[in-house]
Amino acid sequence: MFHAQVLTLFPEFFDSPLNCSIPKRAIADGAVAVDCIQIRDFATGKHKNVDDSPYGGGPGMLMKAEPVVAAIREARKRQPNTHVVMLTPTGNKFTQAKALKYIEKDSITLLCGRYEGFDERIVDYVDEELSLGDYVLSGGEPAAMCVLDAMIRLLPDVLGSPESAVLDSFTEDGMLDWPHYTRPEVFEGKVVPPVLLSGNHAKIEAWRKEQAKLRIKKHKVNK
Ligand code: ADE
Repeated sequence: MFHAQVLTLFPEFFDSPLNCSIPKRAIADGAVAVDCIQIRDFATGKHKNVDDSPYGGGPGMLMKAEPVVAAIREARKRQPNTHVVMLTPTGNKFTQAKALKYIEKDSITLLCGRYEGFDERIVDYVDEELSLGDYVLSGGEPAAMCVLDAMIRLLPDVLGSPESAVLDSFTEDGMLDWPHYTRPEVFEGKVVPPVLLSGNHAKIEAWRKEQAKLRIKKHKVNK
């Protein structure tokens, strides 16, 4: 079983998305376990503070090193081989290739920050800094949920059809596949490409490959 751990101040954020559709089934079937660790449980002092103002001044609050590092240590104690990933807009870009690499590990730990960010010294205690994209979210939680979802659907026996994951990899790591159509044949004057109704499987496959290539080309131009 693949073990995912999430270090967060908001474990409830994950309740609903993990209780839907594919992640819900993957958890129920024992393909993955997702455990949240509440960072606040590792705060010390009367007020159990997890954040503080930045040295040198400036707006906002930073996640303090002590409780976050204590939570990371707890995660490593629970899963000694875990790969600890800090979610931050300045990290390496998350990709399908990364999702495929992560599921080869025994365990992943996703560290979510709030406020304006982390005390920089926390970086020394993680294995990787990861970003979902070039935009700033209000916290690492939505990014961590995307990473979890992308990984979970790739785990063995999670997708309904074993073909789906294989098809993913042959269209450039699942980034872009071909256009899909279902009933009706004509919708508001827009028709389904006739080749898909031809029953000629060789022709259909050739058309799909061609369309996937066109999409990849278009995607690269848009980048
Ligand atoms: N935290 C805030 N913004 C983020 C982003 N774009 N990716 C990952 N973590 C984040």
